[in-house]
Amino acid sequence: MRKPVIAANWKLNGDLALCREFASTFDDLGAGAAPEVLVCPPAVYIPAFVRLLEKSVSVESGEVQTLKVGAQNVAREAAGAFTGEISASMLAEVGVQYCIVGHSERRAIFGETDDEVLAKSQLLADSGITAIVCIGESLSVREAGKAETFVAGQLNAVLSRWSGISAESIVLAYEPVWAIGTGVSATTEQVQAMHSQIRQQADKFLDADALRILYGGSVKASNAAELLALDDVDGALVGGASLNVDEFRQIVAAAN
Ligand code: PGA
Repeated sequence: MRKPVIAANWKLNGDLALCREFASTFDDLGAGAAPEVLVCPPAVYIPAFVRLLEKSVSVESGEVQTLKVGAQNVAREAAGAFTGEISASMLAEVGVQYCIVGHSERRAIFGETDDEVLAKSQLLADSGITAIVCIGESLSVREAGKAETFVAGQLNAVLSRWSGISAESIVLAYEPVWAIGTGVSATTEQVQAMHSQIRQQADKFLDADALRILYGGSVKASNAAELLALDDVDGALVGGASLNVDEFRQIVAAAN
């Protein structure tokens, strides 16, 4: 049984007030079957967010599951003269449990390559952080009928070269670029077809039954339930709708 993950990607948005609002709203996610819920704020807020979460858990409530904190990016090197970068071990030290890698914005705007996605993911695994590796095609690739081949290539670039990879060291996020921030998500048919292909392909490299594959791209309260109900969808990576705590709470509820 795969435990769903609902992840908030705040991108270059949010502030300490939003961290406080999330920490107090999600101070008890319930035990057992509830989804894992994580927030990826801008890196500068991570330590404050972790402290807020520690405070919101009462001493008696050993069973309580709280939010987890994720990062949006990590350095591709372990240490050294790389001004401005933050390493995987530093993220681990301040309480990060997941890190987004290869988001389409990082690939398109910052030139992140498949080689970097692999290097970052492996460094994260070495520090005990689960990489959320994003893959997904652009509109022109989909219109050319090449979405499946393109996504398979992105996936292969990471899985085939990562020796010792397991379903515990990675979460995949299928995020069609044309659905990100547009308000129009992929259809349930498109999502299920791609997720099923991804799981079949991943089975060559790891226990694909245990692999969690998230969907991302205009997930909101109004479409979360139908997307999360799909056989091969194990959660969501949520951008815009994760900046509103009520909307995000409804998405989390749809995964329960
Ligand atoms: P969106 O972004 O939910 O605003 O479409 C998703 C993402 O970029 O991860």
